[in-house]
Amino acid sequence: MRALCWHGKGDVRVDTVADPVLLDDRDAIIKVTSTAICGSDLHLLDGVMPTLEKGDILGHEFMGEVVEVGSGVGADTLKVGDRVVVPFTIACGDCFFCKKGFTSCCDRSNPNEAVARKLMGHSPSGLFGYTHMLGGYSGGQAEYVRVPYADVGPFKVPDHLSDEKVLFLTDIFPTGYMAAENADIEEGDTVAVWGCGPVAQFAIRSAWMLGAGRVIAIDEVPERLALAASDGKTEVIDFSKESNGTYEILMEKTAGRGPDRCIDAVGCEAAGHGSFDAFIDRVKMALKLATDRPHVVREAFLSCRKAGSISMPGVYGGYLDKIPFGAFVNKGLTLKSGQTHVHRYLPKLLDKIDKGEIDPSFIITHRGTLDDAPEFYKTFLHREDGCIKCVMNP
Ligand SMILES: NC(=O)c1ccc[n+]([C@@H]2O[C@H](COP(=O)([O-])OP(=O)(O)OC[C@H]3O[C@@H](n4cnc5c(N)ncnc54)[C@H](O)[C@@H]3O)[C@@H](O)[C@H]2O)c1
Ligand SMILES: [Zn+2]
Ligand SMILES: [Zn+2]
Repeated sequence: MRALCWHGKGDVRVDTVADPVLLDDRDAIIKVTSTAICGSDLHLLDGVMPTLEKGDILGHEFMGEVVEVGSGVGADTLKVGDRVVVPFTIACGDCFFCKKGFTSCCDRSNPNEAVARKLMGHSPSGLFGYTHMLGGYSGGQAEYVRVPYADVGPFKVPDHLSDEKVLFLTDIFPTGYMAAENADIEEGDTVAVWGCGPVAQFAIRSAWMLGAGRVIAIDEVPERLALAASDGKTEVIDFSKESNGTYEILMEKTAGRGPDRCIDAVGCEAAGHGSFDAFIDRVKMALKLATDRPHVVREAFLSCRKAGSISMPGVYGGYLDKIPFGAFVNKGLTLKSGQTHVHRYLPKLLDKIDKGEIDPSFIITHRGTLDDAPEFYKTFLHREDGCIKCVMNP
């Protein structure tokens, strides 16, 4: 089959590779009909996440048709011909964490948990197409993919909803929603969202759903700011045009109090526009003295109002430098984060799509085949051509 493989920093190619086969009786094989590139894939492309190997198949946002099912998966759960979306977090459904609904913390789905434990104390769940430290599972930017725990993971979707409407249930819609939920929004709150990428777009819409009174979104990409503002109520800040910096603008907009809730939907590769801390981050990362560029974490800690909360869907990989923890403690802030517990949110969000409350396809700007994937990675990375989200039909 054909699949998008990582060959090194900045180098992804479509290769011919072996077809996946069932390795466990709880596996299924899915023929991929639609797959997308995530901001998290850019951290892989940039070589920021450790333990990726040459030839690894990327992709964790995918859906398709079941073509083979292991003997351990009952036909009432999943059968050949079913049309499914697959959460990017792999969950056994039966461990301590899965039973509590924390499926991105599954204790059993990462066969390489010892590597992750060394870095993080404990291992999160395995992820599709996301390094050997997180399981070494092949991803779904491919014609076919093996799905473990197929009696738990894939969710059937109704035929009357197009791929484009349901594809983002695999990751970024639940991620944006969980980000808003983790922000503990109270009716009328002012919510600041760093980033206007795909995750942020869903965080913004979810913040409104959960009762925000104001949403202020921050980015520097005109098309992304315009999309955020297109709902007619989200206020936007282009941080590249503001000589005063994001903190000052947020204070101006909130009469000095700061936003009640802050969502970091940027993650470990934040732009800093000449700020001193961001310059130091870049130098240290180039010298391999730092793992992440946490400029947005610092801004959120300093900007958030006292006794406010910060939600962090943005991904960080290692040990973060120069975080104003004094502000965090003395201002009495709360912080929640995590890879998304997709299984927990998916049915509820599918229902919202089915009822017409939201059509997630509003973020798609680029459509193509698997052969377009290498070019799409570059376009998405450099935010060229108005790119917000690329979808491929293998
Ligand atoms: N927690 C999860 O389960 C989960 C799931 C999906 C994605 N993510 C993470 O969420 C983050 C966003 O993903 P995405 O797909 O939207 O990525 P993206 O790269 O398309 O979007 C990031 C946006 O942040 C903007 N940005 C950069 N520096 C900024 C700054 N200083 N202030 C404000 N905005 C800034 C960029 O211009 C860009 O538009 C990534 O870190 C990704 O890994 C996490
Ligand atoms: Zn993702
Ligand atoms: Zn589990």
